Amino acid sequence: MATKKILIVPGDGIGQEVTAVGKKVLDRIAELFGHHFTYDEALIGHVAIEATGNPLPDESLEKMRQSDAVLFGAVGHPKYDNDPSAKVRPEQGLLKMRKELGLYANLRPIKLFDELLGASSIKPEILRGADILFFRELTGDIYFGEKGRKDNGDTAYDLAAYSRFEVERIARKAFDAARTRNKKLCSVDKANVLETSRLWREVVQKVALDYPDVTVEHQFVDATAMLLIKDPTRFDVVVTANLFGDILTDEASQIAGSMGMLASASIGDGTGVYEPIHGSAHDITGKGVANPLASILSAALLLDISFGMKAESEKVIQAVDQVLKAGFRTRDIADAQTPADKILGTEAMGKAVLQFLS
Ligand SMILES: NC(=O)c1ccc[n+]([C@@H]2O[C@H](COP(=O)([O-])OP(=O)(O)OC[C@H]3O[C@@H](n4cnc5c(N)ncnc54)[C@H](O)[C@@H]3O)[C@@H](O)[C@H]2O)c1
Repeated sequence: MATKKILIVPGDGIGQEVTAVGKKVLDRIAELFGHHFTYDEALIGHVAIEATGNPLPDESLEKMRQSDAVLFGAVGHPKYDNDPSAKVRPEQGLLKMRKELGLYANLRPIKLFDELLGASSIKPEILRGADILFFRELTGDIYFGEKGRKDNGDTAYDLAAYSRFEVERIARKAFDAARTRNKKLCSVDKANVLETSRLWREVVQKVALDYPDVTVEHQFVDATAMLLIKDPTRFDVVVTANLFGDILTDEASQIAGSMGMLASASIGDGTGVYEPIHGSAHDITGKGVANPLASILSAALLLDISFGMKAESEKVIQAVDQVLKAGFRTRDIADAQTPADKILGTEAMGKAVLQFLS
């Protein structure tokens, strides 16, 4: 039996809806395995700006630091998406959280549940067996470098920078993970053009010497974008920089059928943050149709990575698998063959998972 403090940070839009379901799953796991989980909540994003004027209030950050793990939803609001000149923005809260908590590695498992082979726009015979673990660097690159305007605002710039230290620490995490899987690692860069990528490749090649049992390949990001769709089963562990990882993992979400299925873990040296890869999805907010499975699978990652609870985590993944095997779908993963009575809303899908958990 373990006692753990979990901070729930739903954020904006469907973040509120799906995180509530993820929390219920954690609760049920605590009950089933005799753990004691306590919860607190904190604000981030648009809701935090509305309440305090700050997308990540100090109080939220402090609560994150004091927790054993954070279950996070999403940030974002159409108000800012349509106003590039807004000085205070929800995403600033997200970037600050990553930076302040030192969350330098973002893990995104892309695993296709067999039952969803038909839900992807990629042919089933190409997809079958796809199982990729992405490591996206999260605290460096063009997102965090100096940015600004010059020439009276007519020229804009964003500086991309990486240090040897930053590349090495994520490379080691990826190599360690490759060792526990199929011992294949693909490092993605653009070393033919970018200096940051040349440093990236140099460092990965050096780290590789410590992992002679792992087969390494280096690929350019443009080729990777093509191969992910053409031949996804060729990949095992993929490690890449912040910007490339952002784009490639959204592309790879199509391998899993929907953005609503993909979980992620952001880890560093302190509290880990677990979140779906999707955003706040304004188009479906408040309709009760958001797929909560990514939040539930994020809870599974939380149990495994932050708490070392492998059996508990596996139980959650199995419950999701059973729900899908029983034919239940949310709208985003349903197809023309799904009977209407099997298409569930957010809460009903959560209840179905809880039933299979018990
Ligand atoms: N990590 C984050 O917090 C994060 C990530 C991406 C985007 N955003 C923000 O979210 C807002 C919306 O951005 P977007 O529309 O580009 O991306 P999005 O991920 O919110 O939505 C993209 C599409 O996928 C669908 N979708 C996403 N999650 C779903 C789910 N769980 N169930 C069913 N369908 C789902 C949406 O309805 C939409 O059609 C923006 O403000 C953006 O800045 C935040």
